[in-house]
Amino acid sequence: MTSPRQRAQQRLIFALDVPDLPSAERLLDQLTGRVGMIKVGLELFTACGPAAVHAVKARGFEVFLDLKLHDIPATVAGAVRAANALGVSMLTVHTGGGSAMLKAATDAADPELRILGVTLLTSLGAPDLPPVCLHGTPAHIVATRAALAAANGVGGIVCSPQEVALVRSAVGPDVAIITPGIRPAGAEMGDQKRAATPASAIADGADYLVVGRPIKSAPNPAQAASDIVDEIARALDA
Ligand code: C5P
Repeated sequence: MTSPRQRAQQRLIFALDVPDLPSAERLLDQLTGRVGMIKVGLELFTACGPAAVHAVKARGFEVFLDLKLHDIPATVAGAVRAANALGVSMLTVHTGGGSAMLKAATDAADPELRILGVTLLTSLGAPDLPPVCLHGTPAHIVATRAALAAANGVGGIVCSPQEVALVRSAVGPDVAIITPGIRPAGAEMGDQKRAATPASAIADGADYLVVGRPIKSAPNPAQAASDIVDEIARALDA
């Protein structure tokens, strides 16, 4: 039996954005039993490779490998097969890679590996889109890419917390929604432009929240994680 608080904790994914293994292990030690899953991203994976995944798994956490794969279909399929072998639970691909790439990724994934489609980085705001030849609104781009990814078999969509309702209507009830860009009230925004609080992301229907710097840079990361879990639990209860 899982308690309401455990269910809230399962929804919190910590972004382990650190440059080396000793820093990763220090944070993992502080956060054992405090978060639901650990996200290994580009910084740590580029620095340490599979050793980073093994260190996280050795502490009993599931791993979300956030490599935002964006390449030709055959190359992405090969990377997905390598992720199967690593035993990670979630892996991101970029929906901008198009239909054939998305299908190659989901076809190559073992049943235990959930492929997630990244729609539009939460650091991009509307003014950032025309210079990269994206001429719709963020909402239009996110909804179109989410529907494309769902049609090609992804198990989840990564989007801004402000786009949860939009994505839910584009993908239906069976695709998980994962939102980075989470900032508890009063926290530093950093480079996130389309952010929301944990409570509002949950109220909008997000399944998992990804939180990095508000936990990592807190004076007491364990306490910061615990406060966010409390906020998620209250939002789930409401
Ligand atoms: O530190 P912060 O809470 O902003 O971390 C957010 C994490 O989510 C980072 O690891 C970042 O790579 C990731 N992410 C994001 N926007 C996306 C997809 C992933 O911020 N669209």
